[in-house]
Amino acid sequence: MTQSTRPPGPLEPASEQVRRWIETPIEFWEECEQKYGSAVSLQLGSLGTVILLSDPECVRDVFRLPADAFECHQYNEHYRYVMGDLSVLLQDGETHYRQRRLLAPMFRHEQLLPKMTAMRSIVLDTIESWPRGTPFNPRPSLHDITFQSMVLLLFGDRTSPTSSALISAYRQSVSGQVGSWGPWRNFSRLQPRIRTMLADEIMLRRRDPDRPGFMTHLAASLDTHGAHLSDAECEDHVFSLLVAGVDTSAISLAWALHWLSRAPAILHRLVAELAGAAGDETGRGLLSLPYLHAIYRETLRMYPIVPTPSGRKLLADTRIGPYEFAAGTTLVPCTYLVHRREDLFPDSGTFRPERFTERKYAPHEYLPFGGGARGCVGEMLARYEFAIAISSILARWQLQTTEAAELRPVRHGTLLAPPDALAVVVQ
Ligand code: HEM
Repeated sequence: MTQSTRPPGPLEPASEQVRRWIETPIEFWEECEQKYGSAVSLQLGSLGTVILLSDPECVRDVFRLPADAFECHQYNEHYRYVMGDLSVLLQDGETHYRQRRLLAPMFRHEQLLPKMTAMRSIVLDTIESWPRGTPFNPRPSLHDITFQSMVLLLFGDRTSPTSSALISAYRQSVSGQVGSWGPWRNFSRLQPRIRTMLADEIMLRRRDPDRPGFMTHLAASLDTHGAHLSDAECEDHVFSLLVAGVDTSAISLAWALHWLSRAPAILHRLVAELAGAAGDETGRGLLSLPYLHAIYRETLRMYPIVPTPSGRKLLADTRIGPYEFAAGTTLVPCTYLVHRREDLFPDSGTFRPERFTERKYAPHEYLPFGGGARGCVGEMLARYEFAIAISSILARWQLQTTEAAELRPVRHGTLLAPPDALAVVVQ
């Protein structure tokens, strides 16, 4: 048998490593890479030995692992309280595969395109009340937009009693928590009431399968024995999509406004591109605008919102790049460190969308949505939301540019987001 390898890593106690991972992740990862290289052994509490990887070849091997070679539920355990026991993020193997097959069709072009006009209305309604000429933090309204959009997709509208109740629960419990450590904690306290509402919706949709919205797809789906999914499973899918999909997309918009307001030439070029596309603001045309797409990709490169894909805990000894890792080791590709490699992204600390029009990146070189069997199911939706929201904002408002200092990210639960100091001015 080949001897398993253990790359070097910090010697401080596991509790200290966990603290630094949570409180100052970027500084911690940069220091680890500088001291120990592109594969670093960490000790992270109940996860045990975690290998932080920033070598693209190793990342490729991780993404190529067959789904039965690892488990992710241990890494995603902290989502259980808000997503529920049956969430896709907490499943592995066959159950995970079955759930992915259920969720993925909801996020294809043909499902999303017909909703674009309604999503645009959500954006326009929300940004109308932005203050003119005064600095403000756009994040609460951006989160409101992406929450409403998700409700629209799930229930087919945003004004039915269930949709309205969910939107108001979100506004009461989460909106004010932007920038906090546990933004969904208060929402999770409302779960018993929300689950009752969702169970009624599921019943209605089983009786009337023509009702619009993803909820009907979930309610009508059958398991491998030909029976309907349990109410609990449908409900957990709703919670998972809300928690995984709302903050992530909103944060991408917040960062984009931050970068655009600091780069007049980039903003100017984007506004010109959007003006050329006027008239097709809700369809595929918007998605095919090269500069808008480059800005989207560069936004997700600079500070990846989900800073690492789910850690993969190996079920058997496994070869990754030059290493032989023992069963039980958790492998974590570090998206931030890969995105900051100078050999891939020269002048990596500068926001420069052109890099994405100049060269192509492989999935193990640019990985904001993770990859392999667990890659993000909402990737296409996130792209639509970004294109619709940025084009609508720049059509309605003129974004004022600033020379204020660049912001560094802070924690927003498991995500990385701009700090509360984020401010933009619109005219
Ligand atoms: C800019 C926005 C987004 C980013 C950066 C993002 C990023 C990610 C990443 C890195 C993962 C882990 C992938 C892995 O382990 O390999 C993930 C998983 C996931 N994302 Fe997203 N995401 C975004 C938006 C969305 C949206 C809009 C939805 C759905 C509505 C969504 C639903 C999910 C789900 C359900 C998973 C779990 C997949 C699984 O475990 O099989 N995400 N996302």
